[in-house]
Amino acid sequence: MDFTNQIVLITGASSGIGKQLAIDFAKRGAVVIGCGRSIARLKEVLKQVRQTSPTSLMIGCDVGDPEQVHGMIERVLTDYGGVDILINNAGIGMRKPFHQTDLSTIEEIMRVNYFGAVYCTHEVLPSMIARGKGQIVNISSVAGNIGTLNMAAYCASKFAMNGWSESLYHELTPLGVKVSLVCPGPVHTGFSRNFRDSEPHSPPSLFVDASDVSQAVFKVIEHNRFELVMPRWLALICWLKRVSPGLFRYLAQRRFRPYVTVPESRRS
Ligand SMILES: NC(=O)c1ccc[n+]([C@@H]2O[C@H](COP(=O)([O-])OP(=O)(O)OC[C@H]3O[C@@H](n4cnc5c(N)ncnc54)[C@H](OP(=O)(O)O)[C@@H]3O)[C@@H](O)[C@H]2O)c1
Repeated sequence: MDFTNQIVLITGASSGIGKQLAIDFAKRGAVVIGCGRSIARLKEVLKQVRQTSPTSLMIGCDVGDPEQVHGMIERVLTDYGGVDILINNAGIGMRKPFHQTDLSTIEEIMRVNYFGAVYCTHEVLPSMIARGKGQIVNISSVAGNIGTLNMAAYCASKFAMNGWSESLYHELTPLGVKVSLVCPGPVHTGFSRNFRDSEPHSPPSLFVDASDVSQAVFKVIEHNRFELVMPRWLALICWLKRVSPGLFRYLAQRRFRPYVTVPESRRS
């Protein structure tokens, strides 16, 4: 597929998967608009991206703030004339028992991971619908298909993204706007920097690289696919959950039970 001069807006482009996507789209001729909160990191990414795509741009923006998102998209539409591909990638994580998690943390995760994608899409969609074309790719997670121990707030935000994406798919496909969902398992990025020591850890064999996720994004766009779960082992586990939910729950409980946090007052 030819991405030359396509305008690609990537949220969370200052590191990890978003950074890799920005570099890869630029190499394939696209004009990349990336956003994030860390201006210093965005500047570093922009240097790399401009080597192959000189008109690309990075914009400081908190996607969880609808006013900042409005300002960013207004600027992109004015200066670049439209967005061909929107990749909702910005996200934050956590791993902590729900009963020990502050409400403010739970709200923040939903605000960034789910509402961030909603705000960006809501701003971009009218112009895509008016042009009768466009592509939205949402970076969700296997945690959007499987409820994982100690990740209730994160799973909720990704389950929300999956259901929202499925609805959008039905609403927007007939209008010429394509919607896709990429659900990676654990990825080698700095994503878990604040909860690296908490359990349960994913087996190393399940990890993929940011470049694998970037390739998956190109795959869903080029093959007009709605959902891609990766790696294959986790796709199989998601399939098992769909076809045999009882067996899946039994096996998942066996895996998770050793890591359940029992409060001090309940320990004998
Ligand atoms: N790594 C994994 O194991 C994994 C697995 C499955 C799914 N995912 C998903 O993949 C996506 C990217 O994660 P990653 O692994 O690349 O992690 P990462 O390296 O920590 O990157 C996260 C990106 O999101 C941006 N971001 C965070 N909060 C933001 C906000 N409020 N406004 C704008 N940008 C914000 C960060 O930029 P600033 O800090 O500059 O704001 C950064 O660029 C996330 O949606 C995550 O849920 C990751």
